[in-house]
Amino acid sequence: MAEPVAVLGLGLMGSALAGAFLRCGHPTKVWNRSPERAAPLVALGAVRAGTVAEAVSAGGLTVVCLSDNDAVLRTCEAAGRALDGRTLVNLTSGTSREARDLAAWAADRGVDYLDGKLLATPDTIGAPETTVLYGGRSEAFDAHRAALGALGGGVIRLGDDPGLPALYDVALLDILWASLNGFLHASALVATEDVKAGEFARFADLLFAGLLAFVARCARQIDEGAYAAEDSTLETHLPATGHLIAECLARGVDADPPRRIRAVIERAIAQGHGKDGYAGVVEQFRKAPAGAQDRG
Ligand SMILES: NC(=O)c1ccc[n+]([C@@H]2O[C@H](COP(=O)([O-])OP(=O)(O)OC[C@H]3O[C@@H](n4cnc5c(N)ncnc54)[C@H](OP(=O)(O)O)[C@@H]3O)[C@@H](O)[C@H]2O)c1
Repeated sequence: MAEPVAVLGLGLMGSALAGAFLRCGHPTKVWNRSPERAAPLVALGAVRAGTVAEAVSAGGLTVVCLSDNDAVLRTCEAAGRALDGRTLVNLTSGTSREARDLAAWAADRGVDYLDGKLLATPDTIGAPETTVLYGGRSEAFDAHRAALGALGGGVIRLGDDPGLPALYDVALLDILWASLNGFLHASALVATEDVKAGEFARFADLLFAGLLAFVARCARQIDEGAYAAEDSTLETHLPATGHLIAECLARGVDADPPRRIRAVIERAIAQGHGKDGYAGVVEQFRKAPAGAQDRG
């Protein structure tokens, strides 16, 4: 018998979560602030709850996925004491601080809290390759591990700390946005010669494939705290940034992204990393430059 589940929040993601539980045979109660969003799930076999308390009172696991964690707190408080003694899995995006604050709020009420972060879009929920990162007590995680498997094949608990998944989540977005911006900026640059993005993407693919080995080497060097150049030095990278900036300026393309790359390499060289490989730049990111944090 599959565990009963309550899903609070039926936006794009919450609806996908509830759909995945239903497909795996979990009796699923659903609640949403705007009740009409429950209709497609009710058609698939979900039971609509009129209140949060009614949704969670069925027992089993409660999953919440709302726009932000303020909404999560207000929604859970609206449940009164109905969540007491139950397990709450919060799959809402946010910061590690918010996750830890919600965990403390839950602990005060005897609610077992797992924070989860979805490395996924709604259309991939339930797929074998979809990963969700969790933080919280292993007893709570293990007790509901089977139900959580309905959301994707990658069910990973990072440890007891409920804040760690949020940190991993934003760190991975850091990589995603930087990589995509790199491709988009480069596409704008080659477009000045009427090169189609689709044609250029073939070469970007080659580069991305090669990056996997580069990332592995950088990770090893970062963990060792030693960045000896194994191919090119930062002193070799620096003039290449100048070539990129010159092409941007000549073609009217935004030169600020490569200027920021040049600035960080220049700082690394000024601090004695000129003969190091590219991983030496990591030291520049460990501490914000003076005054930078004031910009928010
Ligand atoms: N969509 C994605 O690709 C994706 C990927 C990873 C993570 N996420 C995360 O998943 C969460 C939900 O995203 P989504 O795409 O489902 O957003 P969405 O479609 O905009 O849905 C937002 C949900 O939050 C509810 N809500 C907002 N404010 C509320 C409040 N004050 N009280 C109660 N309910 C409230 C909405 O209820 P109403 O229907 O009544 O407005 C709706 O159910 C976000 O934290 C998002 O970052 C989304």
